[in-house]
Amino acid sequence: SFEVECVRSGRTVTVGPDESIVDVLDDAGIHVDASCREGVCGTCEIGVLDGVVDHRDFLLSPAEQEAGDVMMICVSRCASKRLVLDV
Ligand code: FES
Repeated sequence: SFEVECVRSGRTVTVGPDESIVDVLDDAGIHVDASCREGVCGTCEIGVLDGVVDHRDFLLSPAEQEAGDVMMICVSRCASKRLVLDV
């Protein structure tokens, strides 16, 4: 599992191995629009302020994935212990 700090809402949530970030945020009352939930539409794109993203989407180019400024929170995960998101 990993932690997601949501700077705009001032909340930190824990995402378990079988959960998606977008679902955990929704359960915490932090709503982010999502559509495909498969990493193909881009609706759930969120800015990343800190942490290393495990990108699992099909939208971002390799360069964009490496830059790590944004992520699709329906499918992508955390490759460090904590992500800080602009949400
Ligand atoms: Fe479509 Fe996340 S909801 S990419």
